[in-house]
Amino acid sequence: MDIKNEVLLELKKLNLTHDLTNFEKMFVLSTDAKNGDVSLPCFPLAKELRMAPVQIANTIAEEINSQLGADSIIEKAEAVNGYLNIFTVKSVVATKIVEEILKTQTAFGSADTYKGKTVVLDYSSVNLAKYMHIGHLKTTIFGLVMKNLCERLGYKTVSINYVGDYGTPFGKMITAFKRWGDREYVEANGVDAVQDLYVKFNKEAEEDDSLNEEARMWFRKIEEGDPEATELSNWIIELCRGEVERLCGELGAKFDSWRGEGYYTDKMQPVIDELEAKGLLQISEGATVVDLTEYNLGTALIKKSDGTSLYLTRDLAAVEDRYNMYHFDKAIYVTDVSQKLHFQQLFKLVELLEKPYAGKLEHLSYGRYSLPTGKISSRMGKQALLKDLLEAAVNKSREVMEQRGTKVENTEEVSKKVALGATSFEVIKYEKVKDTIYDMEASLNFDGETAPYMQYTYARCCSILEKAGTDVQVGDINYSQITNEQGFELIKTLNRYQKTIVEAYEKQEPCLVVRLLMDIAGEFNKFYTVNRIIDNGVVNLNYLAIVKATKQIFENGFAVVNIPAISKM
Ligand code: ARG
Repeated sequence: MDIKNEVLLELKKLNLTHDLTNFEKMFVLSTDAKNGDVSLPCFPLAKELRMAPVQIANTIAEEINSQLGADSIIEKAEAVNGYLNIFTVKSVVATKIVEEILKTQTAFGSADTYKGKTVVLDYSSVNLAKYMHIGHLKTTIFGLVMKNLCERLGYKTVSINYVGDYGTPFGKMITAFKRWGDREYVEANGVDAVQDLYVKFNKEAEEDDSLNEEARMWFRKIEEGDPEATELSNWIIELCRGEVERLCGELGAKFDSWRGEGYYTDKMQPVIDELEAKGLLQISEGATVVDLTEYNLGTALIKKSDGTSLYLTRDLAAVEDRYNMYHFDKAIYVTDVSQKLHFQQLFKLVELLEKPYAGKLEHLSYGRYSLPTGKISSRMGKQALLKDLLEAAVNKSREVMEQRGTKVENTEEVSKKVALGATSFEVIKYEKVKDTIYDMEASLNFDGETAPYMQYTYARCCSILEKAGTDVQVGDINYSQITNEQGFELIKTLNRYQKTIVEAYEKQEPCLVVRLLMDIAGEFNKFYTVNRIIDNGVVNLNYLAIVKATKQIFENGFAVVNIPAISKM
């Protein structure tokens, strides 16, 4: 229910001296119950109406109060220091909101806004030669949550893991394998064996530069389509990709396409030709470039002096391919902020090429991510590996539950869900630009501002409903006697869900959703402390309906932010 809108509609029915139509945008939802539900700060009106704000607020409040009919959604208006505070009739508003949630259930918070439109999301996009490390958490989780938000608003989504399955790292891996590797051993030990070889290569190459030369040679062979090089690099790629797919799966991320950089290496000529035809190409120190200095975007490198292809050129070929395949209305790339210039250049080139998808591309960039101990470094194998991190989180959550004496049948499954919830929450709890630190210990605290705290509150809703042993239907609700603030504040907080989904999508800020869920958990626990939902075996159906509505919003919201709902913990 749009409380603000309903209040405005009501005001329009009244006969007020000051026409408020021009000021509708200035009405806000009150953040403090003592200021009612909707407020209008009258200061900006003073100039136009040539009156003191206090006087304006007083006049309007008086007029509202004298004209209210019995069926109005407005209970009363109050003027306080230049603010016009409007109080709604709690019973009516509460009933409407709870009924709407119970009626629409999983659809509450979803809309058809972008029905018929397609969005392509490029996220996770791991470089396969490296293990997935903590740095990949953000792109994977942010991308996944953005995809969920897009889906809630009607988009058809296409998730692409544009894996880095190309480049000199694969030349290095082949070199290492040829020198020190053993096929059987690698087959048996999979990606771990490949990674060990890669680490060994980097170590040895620091002493012996000829190894780098050899790696470049193998890379050239891959580019030329040499059968042995192709076979080996495909084999290594599949091993690594399998592991990435497994880890993404553990995070709940599934992809529609794994078409990576390698796919485009022999498909770049058409875009280079188009750039040429538009007269955009220049030769600079042997390299082929596009001069973007007039847009403050430096020089875009299209082809290196040795003829090898580039990240940017592949992205140009990839976006064309994606448009041809999916006819997207929007494409979102999720990476850390260090790639900002790359995407600005890409988008500018697309614009200069006058592509139909110019203006449809967006870069969701986020701040860096690290463990409390310091920067993420993957080169020498000292990285915080994602698989170790996830395992540690599961172990820790099992430990915490044991300490708390939590008794569940499926400890392993619950620990995994708690760990995933904590991880998702940690990643998206702040605005995306912030550099953040992943503090696992803190994230698994059941009492702080954490995912387990919310999951626990959800489980409490489930257990109340189970204990009540009775279901509550829409027709059973009657809030004519709603007397306590907590119930109403909780209901109003639940009602913010729909708008929050829209706002989170528009601003690309998943943190707005987790913060709302946190507010809901807080309001619910206040409500629960003050009210007896089941009193001496008698179930208060009105309260039970609030519990049911809360449970529903947790389910809907958790599904968006990748926090598993656990009914018993
Ligand atoms: N593989 C790249 C990296 O790890 C990220 C790719 C992002 N997507 C893209 N279309 N460029 O840095």
